[in-house]
Amino acid sequence: MASKGQHGGAGASATDMSVVILYGRAALDRQQNVAQIAARLNAAGERTFVPAWEDLTGPSIPDVLEDLLKRGVRQALVVPVAFPADPSLGAWLAGALNAWRLEHADGDFDLRIAPPVEQFLDVAAAVEAAVAAAPERLRPVAEVKPAMGKPGWTDVPEHARQVFFCLGARCAHRRALPLYQHMRRIMKNIRPLNSGPQRAMCVRASCLYPCNQGPLLIVQPDGVWYGRLDETVIERIVQEHLLEGKPVAEAIVHRQKTPTDDTGNIQ
Ligand code: FES
Repeated sequence: MASKGQHGGAGASATDMSVVILYGRAALDRQQNVAQIAARLNAAGERTFVPAWEDLTGPSIPDVLEDLLKRGVRQALVVPVAFPADPSLGAWLAGALNAWRLEHADGDFDLRIAPPVEQFLDVAAAVEAAVAAAPERLRPVAEVKPAMGKPGWTDVPEHARQVFFCLGARCAHRRALPLYQHMRRIMKNIRPLNSGPQRAMCVRASCLYPCNQGPLLIVQPDGVWYGRLDETVIERIVQEHLLEGKPVAEAIVHRQKTPTDDTGNIQ
């Protein structure tokens, strides 16, 4: 078995890496752009380019790494492709990836992070190209019907509770996405949670701050924060909290002060 720290030194150069993970931000690129870039680069055939998303959707970077591990790959270069880059996320990423390689690959995985692509982009030149675009590519807004939004966007939906499920980058790294999907799937099949007085909404949220307690969600207006979620806890939150009004005490990591604080169960 390889010793911890193997493949962790400064031996191979980035150009030796045959697998390149494009680490993008779903909130900015709406998924398809990173996948399209990977497909385009894969067509060149010299390396394998794999997309991974920081937040909101998957696959997350641990999903991709575990897949590589199963296929016997022990080297990969991570290229942050989000634009603009997130310096805070960049500072966190190396430690999180090293934690992953020690826990899941016994240290036998050479993982490196390239500089963010934004350092190599000439945005000023791109702006000049946009300004110089052919006249037929300049869309006159006067030709479009004036509107600020669809009529339905005015109505506030009635919900007894709102669930804010964190799919920020650090929770996504802790596998929040399949848990969010699990929760949505269960809720969809429970009629009282979809109509009537117990109707509940479950939406994705960006970072809610206590990342170390992730995966994490908040149930409002009850002010209950649940952390370190797993499938069993999710199922209990749906059944006991959303349906029966009784928070799952063992999974609570924080409670906001609410008028119901001293009354036990939330009605
Ligand atoms: S990413 Fe979920 S709390 Fe920060």
